[in-house]
Amino acid sequence: MVAGHKFKPRILGFLCNWCCYAGADLAGVSRYQYPPHIKVIRVMCSGRVDPAFVLRAFSNGTDGVFIGGCWLGECHYITEGNYDALSTMHLCRRLLELIGVNPERLRLEWVSASEGIRFAEVVTDFTEKLKELGPLGTGENGLKFKLEAVKNLLPYIKLVERERLRVRFETAEEYNEFFASDEVDRLFHELIVDKLTMSQIMVLLREKPLSTGEISEILGLNPSEVSRHLTSSARQGLVRFDANQKRFAPA
Ligand code: FES
Repeated sequence: MVAGHKFKPRILGFLCNWCCYAGADLAGVSRYQYPPHIKVIRVMCSGRVDPAFVLRAFSNGTDGVFIGGCWLGECHYITEGNYDALSTMHLCRRLLELIGVNPERLRLEWVSASEGIRFAEVVTDFTEKLKELGPLGTGENGLKFKLEAVKNLLPYIKLVERERLRVRFETAEEYNEFFASDEVDRLFHELIVDKLTMSQIMVLLREKPLSTGEISEILGLNPSEVSRHLTSSARQGLVRFDANQKRFAPA
């Protein structure tokens, strides 16, 4: 862990217009103190936050992403988008974990329009957490390629989410339990993990031809795992082995 009292984390906050944004406004008007490192994007509902927004923020070097919504049961839309925000948060956290980014860099909180003090508290707490974790990329090998790979795979991941992971519970605890369950673990392994690894390898090979050893070093993967993916991709005609360079390249 890289602590550093001089490190000022860059935080991007997506705040629901009707509650958390108003709470942030109240915190300002009431002069509650909180660290000034958060840049705010106002959205009409926390359910509007797409996984692509979160990934793009991290790709742009943001150290932490904060989503602020209305308390469960108090969303201003009949679709109750804050339940979707919970699913999005869990999905993104699982994806971040898969590519070696600490999932605590993404936080979802409920803050009502009258809770200026709560807004100041949760932002302060999140900032402290990010200071503990250090700047994005600390100990997160080949992060740029990995984030690019997840972004490329996102249409497929969203399809998996819609077909297999979209659930509706009443409480945040039930969502926590579901996304930490063996069933979700199994689904991730069956449907996402291999595809994501292959997507990472393809992103790397588009930059320049690489050997199995070079790929495994950049991505921090076992060479035998990389070799398995390359063999299967070569069979599918996605990559080819250049005998002169002794390296793999896109077909
Ligand atoms: Fe605030 Fe939906 S309107 S979370």
